Order: sequence, then structure tokens, then C-alpha cells
Amino acid sequence: MAKILVVDDDASIRETLVTFLELENYAVDSAASTEEAIAKLQSEAFPIVISDVYLDERTGLDILNAAKNANPDCSVILMSGRGTIETVMEATKRGAFDYVAKPFDLDKMLEIIHRAEEAARGSDDEDADVEDLPVSEMIGSSPAMVEVYKTIVKAAPSDVTVLIEGETGTGKELVARLLHNLSRRAAQPFVPVDCGSITGSLLESELFGAMRGAYTGADRDRVGALEAAHNGTVFLDEIGEIDEGFQLRLLRFLQEREVRPLGASRAKKVDVRVIAATNKDLAKRMEEKRFREDLFYRLNVVPIKLPALRDRRGDIPLLAETFVGKANERYRLNARITKSGMRAMEEYAWPGNVRQLQHMIERLSILAPQYRIDEEAVLDAIQSLSSRDGQGGESLADTEADQIKKVLAATSGNKSRAAKILGIERKTLYRKLEKMGLG
Ligand SMILES: Nc1ncnc2c1ncn2[C@@H]1O[C@H](COP(=O)(O)OP(=O)(O)OP(=O)(O)O)[C@@H](O)[C@H]1O
Ligand SMILES: [Mg+2]
Repeated sequence: MAKILVVDDDASIRETLVTFLELENYAVDSAASTEEAIAKLQSEAFPIVISDVYLDERTGLDILNAAKNANPDCSVILMSGRGTIETVMEATKRGAFDYVAKPFDLDKMLEIIHRAEEAARGSDDEDADVEDLPVSEMIGSSPAMVEVYKTIVKAAPSDVTVLIEGETGTGKELVARLLHNLSRRAAQPFVPVDCGSITGSLLESELFGAMRGAYTGADRDRVGALEAAHNGTVFLDEIGEIDEGFQLRLLRFLQEREVRPLGASRAKKVDVRVIAATNKDLAKRMEEKRFREDLFYRLNVVPIKLPALRDRRGDIPLLAETFVGKANERYRLNARITKSGMRAMEEYAWPGNVRQLQHMIERLSILAPQYRIDEEAVLDAIQSLSSRDGQGGESLADTEADQIKKVLAATSGNKSRAAKILGIERKTLYRKLEKMGLG
């Protein structure tokens, strides 16, 4: 059986892994620092190395390099409690076998080791190149997010169709842009189409285009999104909303990769990568016969499921701190989150996920008394969210008028930003401003 080197500066993790692996009949050696590990790698060839990422002044990536230099066939499994898409990318690029978020199940680690042994027996298939490209602002190092990063890093460079599923505000569009930015199409257009807000023949001309005179009001040729995205990526958002006729149309497109604008006599070939997203459970819709099975399988080549924020609460502090920092910079404030405030945020269910957290923090940064975001401020904000009606029928409370003025001042009068921060529709804000005599 393969000999395994375990590297972690945390003695409890190191010892747990060593004991567990020995019970599984592996020969195991361990190291508590990068220096010790690199010395061991230079004196002995290990087929498998399991290493923490953040160790001392050097990291698991240095271990990865040393292991690969000593033995190019070595399978290096990295583990970290602070995974980011950048480290996942870097690890993949340098040939890491896998990347595991801490904490993990020992059985999961064993499964990965079995896969590594399997792969070592198999072919020496060359790894695809993963390009160095500017990355996103995706935040989160929970196990579910690290899985998402791994899929993004693997799927991005190819032209494979990706279906992103997740509740509203979980970052579907962010992931779609990232897939595009990390692909060889990055310099070409990324064209989003909101299939949920456009219907029928409008969606058809939006996607496929229309010739002048194809329908009333079409006074000139209109280039469809699929053609506009030629050589780039089209992002079909809210794909769960399209009707059956259009599902068939889209299926044909995915099979033939041709577009024929409304009223045009000939079809044109286009080269586009398709990324689709939905906040609906498409598999369920398919079972209910509301979504075509053949289309589902064409779209769901690589599925990415984004976790709801309440299912990765451990990421809330990092997200919250980042958003406060941004709000402080943007509006030149000095807001901060207290311990009780953070706890309240960690406990809330966030039905609107990351977007809701982001907007609430922007609002609180501007409005919280003394710029202290404490438990009371957070609970008030959550409370006012559920009572906010957007009807504006009754007279304005003074506090509300006050809030609106503060937010408008902070945004230098930008009403659409202010409406977002206040969590109301722009129309509603206009109506409220009129009532306040500021319309
Ligand atoms: N992991 C994340 N890290 C940082 N910001 C995030 C993350 N996920 C989402 N966001 C931010 O939250 C907001 C909503 O994200 P996005 O528009 O991608 O969500 P969505 O899933 O497309 O939502 P919807 O279904 O409502 O369209 C954006 O401002 C985005 O930048
Ligand atoms: Mg979206």
C-alpha cells in the first residue's frame, strides 16, 4: 500500500489523520512544519501527500511543489479551513490531486485517497492547462463553497454548458461571469438574457434577432443575444421560466448552434458558450413535465448548486466584514459591526441570501446610530424588512423620512442606489419623496 505523508501544524488534526490512516493499514509519516515536510520529501518518495495550506511562512503550495519535484506522480491532497477560489485555482494549476475544506469527514478523505491510488494505477493523462486570470470577488470558504470553486475551476476553461441552480441572491450571476472570465472567451462578449422577464415572441427576437419589418415596430434589424455573444458566452438567466414552445426552440439551437433571426431567410452558425441559471428546481419541473427532459440534459452537463446563505452560516462574518468595508469606503463612513450584531446576522435565515445581506449592511452602515451595527440595529432592520410594504398608503413615519434623507445624502442623491439600499422599489421611493415634498 502507498506510503502517505501528512503535513499539518495543528497537532490534533495531524495525529487524528495519522491514527486513522494507520488503522486503515497505510504506512504513514507526518510533519508539523513546511521545513520538516520538505526535508522528508527530499529524502523519500511519497506517492501520496496530504497537506494543510496555511502552515508557517511557507504554505501547502510549497509542499505541493516540493512533492511534485521529488516525484512527479505524487498525488497531493490539500486541505484548508480558509479556501478561496484563488487558492483552489492555484492548487489545480500546480497539479494538486484534490482540495478539501476543513473540517472534513475522515471517510471522505479515505475516499479521496482511494481515488488517488486508482489514478496512479491508471493512465498518465496530461492535465489541462488552467490559465492565470483575474478572479472574482467570491467570498466564502465553507465546504459547500469550496466544492463550487472546484467545479468552476474545472469547468471554466472548456466550452461545456453549465447549469447554475440556487435561490435568489446566492451568486448565480457572479458564478456565470466567473466561468466566462476564467475561460478562453474572456476577452469576448458576455451577454446576459433574463428569460424570466421577457416572454413569447419578444424573447425570441431578443435571443435570435429579427429582421427589419419582421413584426410591427421592428423598424430595423435587431441582432439577437446569441449572435451578439458569438465567440463569447451567453448567460440564460431564469431558464426555468421559459414556456414549452420556447424550450423546443432553445433545444434546437443547442443541437444545431445556428440562429435564424425572425424574418430572415437563412440561418447563421454561431459559436457561443451557454451558461444557464435558475432559482427553480428544474429536475422537479422536469418530473412534473413542465420542463423538457431533453433540454434539461442538454443544459445540465455540468451542474453547479449554490448553497443558500443559511446553509453556510460560517461564511457570514467574512461576507459581512467585507460588505461593511466596502460601504465604508464607498460612502466614507466608519461603520463597524459589534459582536452582538454579528451574532444576530449569523442567526438570521436570510431568505434573500448574499444580496439581502449586502443591501442590509449597506443600509445599516449609513443608518445605524453612531455607525455601530449592533444586535438592536440588525433586529430592527430585519423587522422593518418584514413590515415594509411598498404601498406607502399611510402617512410617512418621521424615522422613515429621516432614513430616506440620510441614504440619499450618502448616495449623493442617486435614487436607484438609494432605493436598493432602502430595500424598496424605485417607484416607491419616488412616491415617498413626493409625499415628503422632495419629489
Ligand atoms: N459568494 C459571494 N461573495 C461575494 N458576493 C456575493 C457572493 N454571492 C453573491 N454575491 C453578491 O450578491 C449579489 C447577488 O448575486 P447574484 O446577482 O449573482 O445572485 P443571483 O443568484 O443571480 O440572484 P437572482 O436569482 O436574484 O438573480 C451580488 O451583488 C453579488 O456580487
Ligand atoms: Mg441573477
